[in-house]
Amino acid sequence: MEVIKVKNYEQLSKKAAKLICDMINNKKDSVMCFATGSTPVGTFQEMVDCYTQKRVTFKNTKAFFLDEYCLNHPRLFEHSNKYFLEYNFFNKVNIEEKNIFGFDQNIQNADKTIAQMNERLAENPIDILILGIGENGHIGYNEPEDCDFSSTCHLAKLSIKTRLSQRKYFYDADEVPKYAITLGIADILKAKKIFLLASGLNKASAISKLLQEEQNTCFPASALLQHDNVTIIVDEAAASLYDK
Ligand code: GLP
Repeated sequence: MEVIKVKNYEQLSKKAAKLICDMINNKKDSVMCFATGSTPVGTFQEMVDCYTQKRVTFKNTKAFFLDEYCLNHPRLFEHSNKYFLEYNFFNKVNIEEKNIFGFDQNIQNADKTIAQMNERLAENPIDILILGIGENGHIGYNEPEDCDFSSTCHLAKLSIKTRLSQRKYFYDADEVPKYAITLGIADILKAKKIFLLASGLNKASAISKLLQEEQNTCFPASALLQHDNVTIIVDEAAASLYDK
């Protein structure tokens, strides 16, 4: 695993965006896959800046969602990953709508949306996957409680810890989803290139575990040790326990 340590969140976002845009410039029809959460927001903004300055084009790219909440009321859809990615990235660049592969947020349609995602993944292998990491080591919504390194796209029950960390995005605790659809670990490992981004002291313990421990399903991110093309970009705060 390559580890790139930068000073702060701003540097992390710039570095990640530069590496990703360079890859897209080398392969204009790259297939990307995006995590959501607060960590990649700066990277998305930098990628948007590259696009507006005509240093990259997303015209021929495709994009998968890494995961999506199951939200059982349309009133909550503004909290979806779809809304988040449209707001932070898709609506600001020239990617074509037909090339964006998301999930149906209605849990009643989970089987259908998972089958459709499996077909699309088979037809469009992911070139560039941008991951964040949960404080408990989850990637996507592959949670430590029921992680399986051979898993493919599936319906996942969110852990209490994850639900608590997502609480800030909802008005009411009852609205925080209990389930999400996520690409599985096996899907993630099929990506040709993986960037894992981590910023802040709250990620320091997870990063230190990832870089010092062996593969263990109780720590889902450790599956990345199997992959031969992972770049972890961390700021000083997130790297602080690893360095000691
Ligand atoms: C969520 C997402 C992950 C994301 C993680 C970290 O649970 N499913 O894909 O990487 O949170 O989020 P943040 O970047 O806000 O810390």
